[in-house]
Amino acid sequence: MSIDTINGALVAINAATACRRLYGGEHPAIDMHTQRAADALSGLAWTGVPRRVVFLESKVVCDGASLPSGKALRDGAFTRLGSGLPDCLELRDGINAESISRLIDTLETGRLAGEMRGIRLCWVDQEPDAEDLDNALISIGDPTFLSHELRTAWDQTALKGKAPVASIEALAGDVIAAISAGSATVLPMANLKSHDEYTYVHAINVGVMSSALARAVGLSPDRVFDITCAALLHDVGKSAIPLDILNKTGKLTDSERLRMNDHPAEGAAILAASPGLSPIVVSVAYEHHMKLDGGGYPNPPRGWKVSLAGQVVHIADVFDALRTHRPYRKAMSQEKALAILGEESGVAFDAELFRIFVDHVLAGEHESRTPASPPRVFTDSAA
Ligand SMILES: [Fe+2]
Ligand SMILES: [Fe+2]
Repeated sequence: MSIDTINGALVAINAATACRRLYGGEHPAIDMHTQRAADALSGLAWTGVPRRVVFLESKVVCDGASLPSGKALRDGAFTRLGSGLPDCLELRDGINAESISRLIDTLETGRLAGEMRGIRLCWVDQEPDAEDLDNALISIGDPTFLSHELRTAWDQTALKGKAPVASIEALAGDVIAAISAGSATVLPMANLKSHDEYTYVHAINVGVMSSALARAVGLSPDRVFDITCAALLHDVGKSAIPLDILNKTGKLTDSERLRMNDHPAEGAAILAASPGLSPIVVSVAYEHHMKLDGGGYPNPPRGWKVSLAGQVVHIADVFDALRTHRPYRKAMSQEKALAILGEESGVAFDAELFRIFVDHVLAGEHESRTPASPPRVFTDSAA
């Protein structure tokens, strides 16, 4: 897993720094740890967008999750980040032993020690380099940029315990604009998955499909917007789940499964503490694994009726998960994914809603500016 690789590389930098303090400027152990860090980072599968590691007061966050060695890193080589130096380490392709050496100099002296290839120190709310923005058209056709944006939003959620509403709303606007312009392409995105990107690309895929489905059933633009935001944030509770459970390649034990099943309630709690978000966003996080027949999780109170928005995101969520390569199974074909999802139709979610998903969203009719005969069978009040 790339988070483990990044954690390991930072631990090696920490060790190189400790050796330098111990032995002075030159010692084989310093070079060995520096080279180990460079080798680990150069072996990562880089996209055009940098990875950001954010140094908080008591932990270190990358991709919305705490690094296992965060406290040791915070107390060691990286102690100046956030006090004297910026709080965010941006990593990209091209890092070598020389740039890591300069980073160690910078961390030790508190002053930038020249250009560091593949490494930049910045503040967490700073924009990516102009070069990245140029390379990344803000279009759903390039999910890399959006997944980077979403990753930054998740990091900030972990930092503050609440979602950065403006960033999420901007992302939802991008998704809706891309769908309206006909540039939203669900299936090519479904093919673009790697394990590293899973969490964010999954959230964007679910955002695209939920938005298209909400639009296809004839909901108002305001409701479509709320559901798009909700879909982008539906799994944000996973940021509270330990990494070893989240990234486990084997089958989860019963207790791990129970912990994992906390993510809807954890997500709802985080989002309820984020002023400015629609209540729909909170209820979708809570309901997206619930079934109409009372099954799923968390256990709904008696008489609970899963909202239309919750059902929309549930369909998109399961479909995208089945279409994705995971460590424990291969991605399914669209036919097989639909066959499995079809068995839940009328049980987990409304059968008519599923029919519209198949006929209008997957068939690509959402790509036209004016959806062909939008079947207004659902109302905003049901969202
Ligand atoms: Fe989920
Ligand atoms: Fe999900």
